[in-house]
Amino acid sequence: MDTLTFTKIAAGVYKASTGKNTDGVLSLVGNEEKLDGINGFYSDLPMPFGDVLTEKVRNKTVVCIPRKLSERHYGPGLRFGGLATNYSVLHMRCDHYGGQDNGRTHVPTPFYVSDAGYGVFIDTAEFITFYMGGTVRTDAENPPEEQNRGRGPWSADTPSEYVEAAFEGDADVYVFTGKNMLEAVAKFNLLCGGGALVPKWGLGFWHRTHTQFDEKDVENEIKLFEDKNFDLDVIGLEPGWHSNSYPCSYEWDGERFPDPQRFVSSLLKKNIRVNLWENLFVSKKSGMYEEIKPYCGSHMVWNGLTPDFTLEKAREIFAKQHKKEHIDIGVSGYKIDECDGYDFWLFPDHASFPSGRSAAAVRNTLGILAQKNIYNAFRKENRRTYGLVRASAAGSAMMPFCIYNDCYSFEQYMTGLASSSLTGCLWVPEVRDAKTAEEWVRRFQMCVFSPMLMLNAWANGVKPWKFKEVEDIIRDTIRFRKSLLPYIYNAFYTYSQKGIPPFRAMCLDFSGTGSQKTTELDHTENPYESLRLSDMTDQYMAGDSIMVCPVRPGEKKRKISLPPCDWYDYYTGEYVGGGKTLEIDCELDKIPLYVKGGAMIPTLENGVLTVRCYGNGGSGFLYDDDGETFDYEKGDFELSEMSFIRKNGAVEGKIKKTHSGKFESAYKTVKFV
Ligand code: GAL
Repeated sequence: MDTLTFTKIAAGVYKASTGKNTDGVLSLVGNEEKLDGINGFYSDLPMPFGDVLTEKVRNKTVVCIPRKLSERHYGPGLRFGGLATNYSVLHMRCDHYGGQDNGRTHVPTPFYVSDAGYGVFIDTAEFITFYMGGTVRTDAENPPEEQNRGRGPWSADTPSEYVEAAFEGDADVYVFTGKNMLEAVAKFNLLCGGGALVPKWGLGFWHRTHTQFDEKDVENEIKLFEDKNFDLDVIGLEPGWHSNSYPCSYEWDGERFPDPQRFVSSLLKKNIRVNLWENLFVSKKSGMYEEIKPYCGSHMVWNGLTPDFTLEKAREIFAKQHKKEHIDIGVSGYKIDECDGYDFWLFPDHASFPSGRSAAAVRNTLGILAQKNIYNAFRKENRRTYGLVRASAAGSAMMPFCIYNDCYSFEQYMTGLASSSLTGCLWVPEVRDAKTAEEWVRRFQMCVFSPMLMLNAWANGVKPWKFKEVEDIIRDTIRFRKSLLPYIYNAFYTYSQKGIPPFRAMCLDFSGTGSQKTTELDHTENPYESLRLSDMTDQYMAGDSIMVCPVRPGEKKRKISLPPCDWYDYYTGEYVGGGKTLEIDCELDKIPLYVKGGAMIPTLENGVLTVRCYGNGGSGFLYDDDGETFDYEKGDFELSEMSFIRKNGAVEGKIKKTHSGKFESAYKTVKFV
């Protein structure tokens, strides 16, 4: 086998190529790497392991990445069943999650991290199979000992000193070192141009109307929401707005929406943005059909043309049409559906495309290229967009899009939140329905602590007040999200500057505090001392300092694992301890939240910026900009440092501007509590 030669491209980031003709996702996407961010914020550690080996076997390139037997791996790809992947065999390909974490997933990014504090990314658009530490070669230097199942304890695992990956063609291999996993993930996100600073309006309340709604229905719906005091920020139109959908015309249905410009403008006047559903398959009824046809693949999907988005021309035609029909009249974004497949609703693996690229490469990049195209179209107008997409790939950290799917398990949606942070994407655990009032509340509460608070009523037309008995709780829950806007926006600012995901798996913040110590499960008083910590998905971090502990529907009591530092109850400000397990009674109107000692949480209460301070003293920051343009990139934003001390129970807080440009923040007075 050959040894790959790595070159340092930024602080603690190394790159090698398995051959000359790499045609990876990053180059297809036109990656906008933020190496300055990596160099500015992170450590410059050496390669974390010895030689990375490679060989060609038939039509495949194989890469072998060394690992220690004690290491725990997370990823590759967005997962829903659990985070850790040791010994898994993962056939990564873009697909709708089918109930098993076998590699078929909405975001099959070939990036994984190790709790030893590094990440590996193999940049190929082709299908790639990962063997996560269970393949032992005949000539291995330190093979595991043979076992005898007939005698004593026996394990089916055959731990190996390598992770192996195999794919067609050549690829660039990146290694991200870090003091911990978080650093490795952050470096990966920055390399991919991330993270996205989403527009402020996108952090409000989203609702998607029934697919058959016309203009009047939508307007009536909005009126209903107004009457009931549910403040909408974004309304999503589902397939019925097109004159034809599945495949799509991308043109307004003239009967349902006779004057789209008037419709969109009237909603904008109320501060409600319009988001349009689409899939990427072009109907004969679309005005762009003939023009785009030469740039489409050999097979139809939903009886529509499949654009080869790896070709600039295809992207250009799509963007031109979207600009004219939607973006120019004020539409704010899209929900890009069906680009992940479900095998039978996509082209076959032997389909051919005018670029000459494989069906695998087109399939794996359909979602990310569609996102980038839309992002660029808005960017040209100096407008930020925010939307939804069902497929993504490397490069998604810079994309203001959330991944969603058609599954609806509470447990899996929670896991999706944790896993997305290990994969460089944003995930939305949307609310669609509930069997009980309690479930309804619990789903909304989790959604508050996610990148997008969305009710998706495309199929059943359900309203937030579906369960009369919890109508007030749901209203308050949505208001709670809005009050957290300054804090969540801060988190997205950090994402954009440092690559730190706004919503994160516990293992990202707390690996190295015990996760590598023992192998026993469940037995210790505090799970943070066992491996279970690293796989934890029913607790996660939101922003710098809030730990979110969703309550599963039906749960009356739950355990909370407090990592070893000081924690305070979000609501009461009371000290609850650290490095131990709490057992709490679950209250219906509250999602359990714990805040790190010393944290300052900026919130909006009755229009006043109110900074909630936890502990006896600490510090924080406040970021603000216009929330919708890219002017912040030219320096038009405000950044302030904050600090507080608590004396005799009273909080003394300070705030000092450290940067300002043309933008002037609306937060004039600041209250510290
Ligand atoms: C599904 C999508 C749903 C909804 C529906 C409309 O594939 O996941 O959220 O948009 O299409 O047909």
